[in-house]
Amino acid sequence: MVKICCIGAGYVGGPTMAVIALKCPAIIEVAVVDISVSRIAAWNSDHLPIYEPGLDDVVKSCRGKNLFFSTDVEKHVAEADIIFVSIVVEKSTVPVKTAEAIEKILTHNSKGVKYQILSNPEFLAEGTAIEDLFAPDRVLIGGRETPDVPEERILCTNLWSAELSRLAANAFLAQRISSVNAMSALCEATGADVAQVSHAVGKDTRIGHKFLNASVGFSGSCFQKDILNLVYICECNGLPEVANYWKQVIKVNDYQKTRFVNRIVSSMFNTVSGKNIAVFGFAFKKDTGDTRETLAIDVCKGLLGDKAHLSIYDPQVTEEQIQRDLSMDKFDWDHPVHLQPRSPSSVKSVSVVWDAYEAAKGAHGLCILTEWVEFKNLDYKKIYDNMPKPAFLFDGRNVVDPQKLREIGFIV
Ligand code: UDX
Repeated sequence: MVKICCIGAGYVGGPTMAVIALKCPAIIEVAVVDISVSRIAAWNSDHLPIYEPGLDDVVKSCRGKNLFFSTDVEKHVAEADIIFVSIVVEKSTVPVKTAEAIEKILTHNSKGVKYQILSNPEFLAEGTAIEDLFAPDRVLIGGRETPDVPEERILCTNLWSAELSRLAANAFLAQRISSVNAMSALCEATGADVAQVSHAVGKDTRIGHKFLNASVGFSGSCFQKDILNLVYICECNGLPEVANYWKQVIKVNDYQKTRFVNRIVSSMFNTVSGKNIAVFGFAFKKDTGDTRETLAIDVCKGLLGDKAHLSIYDPQVTEEQIQRDLSMDKFDWDHPVHLQPRSPSSVKSVSVVWDAYEAAKGAHGLCILTEWVEFKNLDYKKIYDNMPKPAFLFDGRNVVDPQKLREIGFIV
């Protein structure tokens, strides 16, 4: 058996290693290690620490056979062939040029062992991680020495290009979203429908239709961080114009979130103070329980800033997580999960409920922040009947049909 040790049991390490173990039962044994005791315990339990469609089945069929989760980092690193006897593979997003730093550190401490560093950036997206791993668009391997026979879809580049490609890909995707969101502001000002504009634009095959859905903004742990990383590298290399270009993508994203909150407040007679607002969805996108950098935090904080009462429902995010996200400052997030620095006090004007109908009961306004499929199929007549009038609905994800809702009586 070839022994793989993966350091880091998060959104990339967990699903990626589970799929590797599933695909190579006879030849590969995988150990996923992490310093977080609670996280490893969760990977070894019936309640995995992350939600990802299909992940439970993959883990269940390999765990204890050729897939192991452990906190014994040193042991598994020592036993591994890959991170390796001689190869270290850089997998998750890293600051560009990390490979060079790893190479230097290893070479200076090598005791005669020869290391090869590869950059193999991960392109999986949350919510479709298992699907992306089974059928990737491309596999990118960057190294000083490239494999002899590159197979179709395996792109071999130099180390630095592989690292930068990962940042560039995410920056391009985020830029598309900011572009369509900037258009949405113009559409709202002029009476055009952004869904129709984006559909028409996407019909140009050079542009394509993917990643052109207007929203309250992009969220998640990757896009903002990767663009800031790119901006930093540009500035370090004396390219302020290029840095400013990418910065603008983030500015438009922040503007979109503020604009959404302002729109709610101004529509509801210029204040939401003391009013009940139901929030549908808190995760940064559907099919995940991940809330890192979710736009819901900014929108909820904006509404709380004007003294609204919030009733929040998300099918995959726990009350504890929502309360923690809303009571913490941005930078508290960097504390390692196993330390649990202090138990955050819950935010008083926020209640978290386990049902969309419950969340909307007695609400003056309702906003949809995550595109969960179940929000499309709710009985909105029943919801409307339980709300004081006028009943407002703000769809931050374009999941409902505004015309149908207006017929029920909602102000959309
Ligand atoms: C992203 C990249 O897609 C993936 O290739 C990379 O490996 C990691 O970063 P992820 O962060 O999981 O993946 O989510 P993604 O599907 O890219 O969505 C990011 C954000 O943009 C979400 O908040 C999503 O809701 C939003 N989005 C996406 C839009 O607002 N409109 C769209 O059209 C598409």
